[in-house]
Amino acid sequence: MTQQEHRSKSGFETRAIHAGYQPDATTGSVIPPIYATSTYKQDGVGGLRGGYEYSRSANPTRTALEGNLAALEEGERAFAFASGLAAEHTLIRALCTPGDHVVIPDDAYGGTFRLFDKVEQAWGLAHSPAPVSDADAVRAAIRPGETRLVWVETPTNPLLNIGDIEALAAVAHEAGALLVVDNTFASPYLQQPLTLGADVVVHSTTKYCGGHSDVVGGALVVRDLGLAEQVGFHQNAIGAVAGPFDAWLTLRGLKTLGVRMDRHCDNAERVVDFLTRHPAVAEVIYPGLSEHPGHEIAGRQMKRYGGIVSFRVAGGETRALDVCARAEVFTLAESLGGIESLIEHPGRMTHASVAGTDLEVPSDLIRLSVGIETADDLIADLDRALG
Ligand SMILES: Cc1ncc(COP(=O)(O)O)c(C=O)c1O
Repeated sequence: MTQQEHRSKSGFETRAIHAGYQPDATTGSVIPPIYATSTYKQDGVGGLRGGYEYSRSANPTRTALEGNLAALEEGERAFAFASGLAAEHTLIRALCTPGDHVVIPDDAYGGTFRLFDKVEQAWGLAHSPAPVSDADAVRAAIRPGETRLVWVETPTNPLLNIGDIEALAAVAHEAGALLVVDNTFASPYLQQPLTLGADVVVHSTTKYCGGHSDVVGGALVVRDLGLAEQVGFHQNAIGAVAGPFDAWLTLRGLKTLGVRMDRHCDNAERVVDFLTRHPAVAEVIYPGLSEHPGHEIAGRQMKRYGGIVSFRVAGGETRALDVCARAEVFTLAESLGGIESLIEHPGRMTHASVAGTDLEVPSDLIRLSVGIETADDLIADLDRALG
């Protein structure tokens, strides 16, 4: 099936399992082989078989992953990278030049902020933080004629703020900028930003797409062929591509994304219900809660509210660190989106790089990546950890 046919005819789970690959013509191999090769025999100079020349430029296992991701995000083309940050850096270099400006979220993954603040800024790219939940504030942060990208996460990491993708796309486009949405937290199962007007989707496929905490990867998905050409050129020219083993693992993960996400959401809802009633918890942050300021927008643009839950504990940082240390089923570790539940202290761990900036996170904040274990065991573990 072509990409177009997958988009128009198949449901999400069917695309997740079939898009991007046809059983191998020679052997019938149902699953794409891991093409562990750096180069390809040519039938005479320039006589490429299927367009494969050198594995930085293209590799069939990576092609299968890229086709699958494009179908899941309802984009025209997808590109797979060695990490989420490699994808981000490639996108920035593909679309910006020194002297340009980018609006970034005022709550974002610490590594993304560090990339803009410490790497791209030194190259000549300016940035201003703005709250993704406030389209007027994003508009005000735009520098007419200079702003090239409006970059958002929704939900944001780690405070789970929600940006209205349709409204933000309008704000960006009014100013002649492009809207980039980091869709890592929602995953393509819960939200497809390109269908809401975004120009580029970014993923850390390390998270829900891979889903098993066994591979680091990133992806870009675009809906415009001109953009695809620019991104594809830079993917090859910069060379931070996903290797065939990593591409294979990520594709294997994507096939079960839908069933995993539903269980992540079921378990997160149970955890939220427990935490909201616990006396040691000062505040629960989850877009599924009716009091969450982004609840209505999330309900409109997301299928469900996701597997990440953040909460603030009564008793400040010391208590938060203590809860992290006492959890057992929730493993104390960075990252998120895998089958196993993780607990972390963003201020000291994933977001240490934003300390002292506009993006600093509260010190009593804990972030949970709720896995797909038995929900009762997760609740019992949190009950024990909260004392
Ligand atoms: C929302 C978000 N975007 C991007 C990244 C960066 O991805 P990677 O760690 O795969 O480079 C992360 C990593 O945690 C993330 O949480």
